[in-house]
Amino acid sequence: MSEIHPVYSSYEVLNFTAEMTRYVIDNNIKGDLIECGVAAGSQIAMMQKTQLELNEKRTIWGFDSFCGIPYATEHDATQPAIGEIDRYKLGLLESTGVSSHSKDSVIENFNKWNQSTDNLRLIEGWFEDTVQPTSKQIKQIALLRLDGDLYRSTQVCMKHLFKKLAKGGVLIIDDYHLEGCAKAIHEFIAQDKIKHIHNIAYYIKP
Ligand SMILES: C[S@@+](CC[C@H](N)C(=O)[O-])C[C@H]1O[C@@H](n2cnc3c(N)ncnc32)[C@H](O)[C@@H]1O
Repeated sequence: MSEIHPVYSSYEVLNFTAEMTRYVIDNNIKGDLIECGVAAGSQIAMMQKTQLELNEKRTIWGFDSFCGIPYATEHDATQPAIGEIDRYKLGLLESTGVSSHSKDSVIENFNKWNQSTDNLRLIEGWFEDTVQPTSKQIKQIALLRLDGDLYRSTQVCMKHLFKKLAKGGVLIIDDYHLEGCAKAIHEFIAQDKIKHIHNIAYYIKP
């Protein structure tokens, strides 16, 4: 058994996920807990650990291709972990091989971190195909964590999930420092409404 540890972030970022999970529960903000872009599953495991410690068991939804980040579009400045954007593969929904973790490996990590999976819904596929149909099963969201790196990966999640974020619910925007992600966010939220703490961008729905 080992402790949940960050794979793509820092302890500061991981602890902020715990803090915001605690925040929505303590403030009785009803709704599910969601991450789009789970990779190895550290953040959703931290949501689980935190809520179980508070005797809550809300549904946790984790969306991912489970085969890595796709190709950037013309709205992005770079291809994550690669650099230059491949103009011949612009917007292609095909894995670049970056941040590739299978669904089984996420379950294995939950087991290793001693976190239950019975309330965990891992939705495999491109957000562009999965988020809209799956959103029909989601009534309300208390915590929405976006970590898909790219413009379109962020835009499609905002389009179908942001409207379900409860009043007082929290949106964590992992990639706000990336041009494409920020651009997608600003289509829904004005720049001056985004809060920042230790380099983490977030928003609380009024
Ligand atoms: C940086 S990683 C996420 C890191 C993770 N949240 C953490 O903190 O450990 C980005 C993830 O987003 C997923 N992703 C990005 N765009 C996607 C898309 N359009 N559809 C499905 N998955 C996508 C990738 O497969 C990858 O696992």
